[in-house]
Formats: sequence, structure tokens, C-alpha cells
Amino acid sequence: MIIQPRVRGFICLTSHPEGTAQHVKNQIEYIKSKGKISNGPKKVLVIGASTGFGLASRITAAFGSDAATIGVFFEKPAAEGRPGTAGWYNSAAFEKEAHAAGLYAKSINGDAFSDEIKQQTIDLIKKDLGQVDLVVYSLASPRRTHPKTGVAHASVLKPIGKPFTDKTVDFHTGIVSDITIQPVENEEDIANTIAVMGGEDWRFWIETLREAGVLAEGVKTVAYSYIGPELTYPVYRNGTIGRAKDDLEGTVPVLNNLLKDLNGISYVSVNKALVTQSSSAIPVVPLYISLLYKVMKEKGIHEGTIEQMQRLFAERLYTDNVLLDDKGRIRVDDWEMRPDVQEEVSKLWEQVTTENLDSISDIKGYRDDFFNLFGFNFEAIDYDKDTNEVVNVPSIA
Ligand code: NAI
Repeated sequence: MIIQPRVRGFICLTSHPEGTAQHVKNQIEYIKSKGKISNGPKKVLVIGASTGFGLASRITAAFGSDAATIGVFFEKPAAEGRPGTAGWYNSAAFEKEAHAAGLYAKSINGDAFSDEIKQQTIDLIKKDLGQVDLVVYSLASPRRTHPKTGVAHASVLKPIGKPFTDKTVDFHTGIVSDITIQPVENEEDIANTIAVMGGEDWRFWIETLREAGVLAEGVKTVAYSYIGPELTYPVYRNGTIGRAKDDLEGTVPVLNNLLKDLNGISYVSVNKALVTQSSSAIPVVPLYISLLYKVMKEKGIHEGTIEQMQRLFAERLYTDNVLLDDKGRIRVDDWEMRPDVQEEVSKLWEQVTTENLDSISDIKGYRDDFFNLFGFNFEAIDYDKDTNEVVNVPSIA
């Protein structure tokens, strides 16, 4: 099969196995180049481990700290002439590299919101690792079937209260236009978004793992949040997804209480805005990211998911005094939020149009990152070549 990108809106329907493997290898090389993380994690469970921040967390734990990792995700292998999903290929490549390096790595493919997958994960931890000392919670999903009620919740990305109009970009065509997003019509949309992206499932995981006795003394758990600039507040932090993030952040004291006996601790880390499958779905945000990339690259402070996770582990999570903000959160969005960065981004935001997009933004960097997520735009890969090999995740095959 010859695999080329097939794009529909903010989704790429195809993924390239060798390209995604290259993407994973590049991330591993970066982690190796940074040296070992002192006193890092040793036995790690990553929920949402196949793409974005979760994959980068898994790579950081494995190659930066020689950790055994179990990854949970929801991905699809290739079928009937259709390539597998990027997260499937990423996980196949990750496991192969980890095994070659003598590291334990197994994966579970299924709905992390379900009780069944939680139980399967516990069984695997008991069988192979005994206990885990770090649980990374990095799910991003548009829907969740509640394991207790059976209700299917769908999240929405909407403002609350009044319509929001601002600029947005179609990052494929480069057309900058105004978009108006209507506010949620009822409280139910807010509650559904909280049910999907809030902290309940993180709590269910920690409760279940704790009851099963598979959390080690001194265990840490971390989940990821976002704040961003005022200009995206209506669609992000003050919108439905922001309510879910408030709920996620509000789960920290609850988990700390649950983990007290084990001397365990939970954190939310506020990460930088980056191109992932999830963030490309949010209106307005891709244009902001294109301008942010431009400014941060010019200042030499740009980071991708792997650089962010390396810094999170090495300079925050595994240090003697974990640096927190006044709300108790870890901040690795600190460089994004620097006043000089934000001031320049706001100036560019005022000016940006279809005509000057190429010159004043890093739309090229955005597109490259987007296609890289699916294994495209890597120079070393010949995209005209047939890729007939069946790619399996070794521990699942
Ligand atoms: P992503 O879309 O790259 O990764 C999501 C992961 O969740 C994948 O591994 C996917 O397989 C897994 N997943 C989704 N539904 C699942 C299910 N039902 N069962 C099992 N696995 C499932 O997303 P990204 O961007 O890495 O997001 C991870 C977290 O980081 C989210 O909480 C997000 O809000 C947060 N974050 C993202 C930022 C960004 O700019 N992308 C910035 C700051 C925080």
C-alpha cells in the first residue's frame, strides 16, 4: 500500500508506519541526548500513551529513567487496505525500541474509561510489575461512556454565556477568517464536557489501582491541563473545556487524600499549547499556536511535546522541591506565558491576515508538526514506496 496524507478538516485519515516510527525515534534520541533523570520513575503506567503528551511521557520515563512502562490507549491497527492509526504505529515503534534497549514495555488497547480496561491493567501490573510508582493520566477524548451509569457523554468546545467571535485559520489553505462560536445552550453540555475531560475518571483510576494494592509507597500521579492567553479564554479556559480543566485541577486534593497512607502525591501540570490531534480540533487555537511558535522559535525557547515532558520530569516532578504556582499546579507553560512572549503574540494577533500569514506566523511549523503527528513530512522517508509490512504492537500481537 502506498500511504499519502488524506486530510479531512483537522483530521488526517491516514498514517504512515515508517514515518511515525521515525517520529518516535527522534523523540527517543532527544531524551537520550539529555542524559538520565536522577531519581526518576521506575515502573510507570501511562493512560493515553500513544500520541501527544502521553507518548512523550512514556518515552521520557523509559529512555530518560530506564522505566518499565505499561501504556493504555485506544487505537486501531491497519485493516482492509486502510492504514492503522498514528497511535497504533507509534506504540508499535515505541515497544520495539524499548525492547531493543532491554526495557519492559507492554500495552493495552481499549477504552480506558471502562471498568474492564482498568481491571486488565491491574492484572498486568500484578503479573509483571507488582506495583507502579508513577501514573500519568493523559487522555484526550471527545466522548466517554460512564462505567457506572452507561450514559454516553459527548464533550463540546464552546464558550459559556455569549457568542465569541475572533480570528481563526484553516491551516491547510492558510485562509484567516472570522469565526463566531455560539455559546452552550444548556448546562448539560457543560456537565457532559466535565464528565469526559474532568477529573472523575482520573479519580476512578487512582481509587481502583489503590484498592488493588498496585500503587507503590511514595507513588506520584500527574494529569495535564492548559490555561493559555486571554485571547483564547472564551473558547478554552472560560469555555466548556475550561470547566472540565477546573474539575481536573480540583481533583488533586481528593487524590492526595486517597494517597496519604502511601505517602503518595498527585499533580496537575499545565503544559504549553502544542500541535496534537486534540488541539488541532479547537477553533482559534491553531492560529494562536502558529504565532506562538514564531515568537518562541525566534527567542530560542520553543519546545515540542518531548521537550516539555523532559523538562517536566527532570526539572519539576523528580526534584526535591516541586515548584508549584499559587493554585498548587506545576507550570511548564511558563515560557509560553512569559510577558514578553505574550506581548509579541498579541501584537501579531492584531495584524495577522491571509495575506501576511506566511511572513508573520510559523504556519509552516504548524503544518509540519501536524503532518509529523501522522508520520508525514519526514525527509528520510520515501512516501512513494509501498509499505506492505503488517505492523503490530509486539505486546498486543
Ligand atoms: P492526544 O490526542 O495526542 O492524545 C490522547 C491520548 O488519549 C491518545 O493516546 C489516545 O489513544 C488516548 N485515548 C483517547 N480516548 C481514549 C479512551 N477512551 N481509552 C483509552 N485511550 C484513549 O492529546 P494530547 O494533546 O496529548 O492531550 C493529552 C492531555 O494534555 C489532555 O488532557 C489535554 O487537555 C492536555 N493538554 C494538551 C495541550 C495541547 O496543546 N495539546 C496543552 C496542555 C494540556
